[in-house]
Amino acid sequence: MFSGFANQWTPVVLASKLGRGPLAVTLAGEKLVLFRDQQGVAHALADRCPHRGVALSLGKVTAEGCIECPFHGWQFNGAGDNCKVPLTPDAKRERLFTASMPVREIGQIVWVFTAPVAQAPHEPELPDGLTNPAYTRTYLVRTWTAHWTRVMENMLDSPHLPWVHRSTIGRQMWKRMKPDSRMDVTWEEKPWGGRSRSTLDGHDANAYLDFYQPNMMSLNIPIPDKHFQIHALVVPIDDTHTRLIVVGSRSFARLRLLNPFFNRSNGIIADQDRAVVESSSPLEVPAAANEFSVPTDRATLQFRKFYFETLKPSVAEVAQRKLPAQERSS
Ligand code: FES
Repeated sequence: MFSGFANQWTPVVLASKLGRGPLAVTLAGEKLVLFRDQQGVAHALADRCPHRGVALSLGKVTAEGCIECPFHGWQFNGAGDNCKVPLTPDAKRERLFTASMPVREIGQIVWVFTAPVAQAPHEPELPDGLTNPAYTRTYLVRTWTAHWTRVMENMLDSPHLPWVHRSTIGRQMWKRMKPDSRMDVTWEEKPWGGRSRSTLDGHDANAYLDFYQPNMMSLNIPIPDKHFQIHALVVPIDDTHTRLIVVGSRSFARLRLLNPFFNRSNGIIADQDRAVVESSSPLEVPAAANEFSVPTDRATLQFRKFYFETLKPSVAEVAQRKLPAQERSS
């Protein structure tokens, strides 16, 4: 499961999208069903009934908080345990489970761990801007026709700002640029990924990009004594589609009435990026040796190294937690 994106915490959808009924989502090529139990706790199961393969997301959530398959009424709880097999009182339900993935709801976003395990080995590591109650946040969701790796690299790429965003966040850089200007990009390893800064002709605007592995970027925009960040959460859907969740967090102008203004600005910037990223070929970023690079590509090359060395080889084993030992090895 989750070939090329296994054993990772990833944002999936805004929590507001997950209501009382099941929600079908595709994550890194895997069809999942999200649902809430009777306490409102979110869960994720493989969206495929282990009986005859029907999508559980076409079923309903019972009063007991289980999801019921629409075909023959088998029921599963959030852990994937079989709660009911109608018409078959002697069914060995402990053997009729389905795969479940760990879920968290943090910062108004549903996070899923991409492996069918009872417990994730660690918790999601998030920037303060996504969780600090002292900040006001805005949320914007777009679906791009692109492989997530191209979108992620775009978010870590500084030298495109004066070209793609000349009318928005790249305007100052464009004005400052001279024919012989030089950009320098640094990369600093961090426990959660890395931090990239860029200078133009030695001028440091004090903005920096943080890469949170595997698929999140936080742009820190310097305003004295204020917090202002834009976070790009890059959710792999399948080989050709990516959900981009843009979260803005700020400690000033906290009136909610102003949220549409901030969201509009983020939407314009995202649409400017989309126009170029969706044209990338091949869809998935290739090995670094297969494209020409220059020193200003430092941050994106760091991502590419992480992707090819750590993430892409990863495959989560399908859950076999309840099968007898001799069946597990056969
Ligand atoms: Fe789901 Fe039969 S296919 S209960």
